[in-house]
Amino acid sequence: MHIHHLQEKNSIANRFIAQLRDTSIQQDRMRFRRNIERIGEVLSFELSKELNYHSKSVTTPLGTAQINLPQEDIVICSILRAGLPLHNGILNYFDEAENSFISAYRHHPDNDEKFEILVEYLASPSLEGKTLILADPMLATGRSFVNVLKALESMGRPEQIHMVSVIGAKEGVEYVSENFPENTHLWIATIDEKLNERGYIVPGLGDAGDLCFGTKKQH
Ligand code: URA
Repeated sequence: MHIHHLQEKNSIANRFIAQLRDTSIQQDRMRFRRNIERIGEVLSFELSKELNYHSKSVTTPLGTAQINLPQEDIVICSILRAGLPLHNGILNYFDEAENSFISAYRHHPDNDEKFEILVEYLASPSLEGKTLILADPMLATGRSFVNVLKALESMGRPEQIHMVSVIGAKEGVEYVSENFPENTHLWIATIDEKLNERGYIVPGLGDAGDLCFGTKKQH
């Protein structure tokens, strides 16, 4: 897998990441969602450099300009619910993309720390021969990404897969590296050291879904 780690080089995206993590700022839900969206935009710009382009002529009021434009059919698939602001950020740049939504959540069958990832809802166009961008802001254990990839098998085989994420844990990055096709790209803003016993990224930022949309009742 090709890993593109945004924070290896300092950029203004560091400020977005800092605000996402900071307990005195992250409670502002609109800012939290917007910062995830902004990181989605930055990562999309980086990702766009890996796409295939073809030359096209564009008529201007004064003549004709040749310009290289992306030629791939892109499908953005986000994992509900925390993936929504990231999805928006990616869609802001790849505005002609098709869209796919899938749910994945942590189910604690014994009400303890052990959990399984359940995938229940999927709405997607065909992925056959397309470029699939999978969006999930938190790459913790990596099991959501891998379960989602399995669930998407029935939609056809994408030509190329790009994963987009905001914060990852080292072990989650390792897990997806082992379970995704070798030519997959991972575009990630920052990678943290570890997971805690509940599978949360440390230092991380807390629960991304709750910070975006408020807490939810367990069922
Ligand atoms: N999901 C989150 O929202 N936060 C984590 O730290 C891990 C998974």
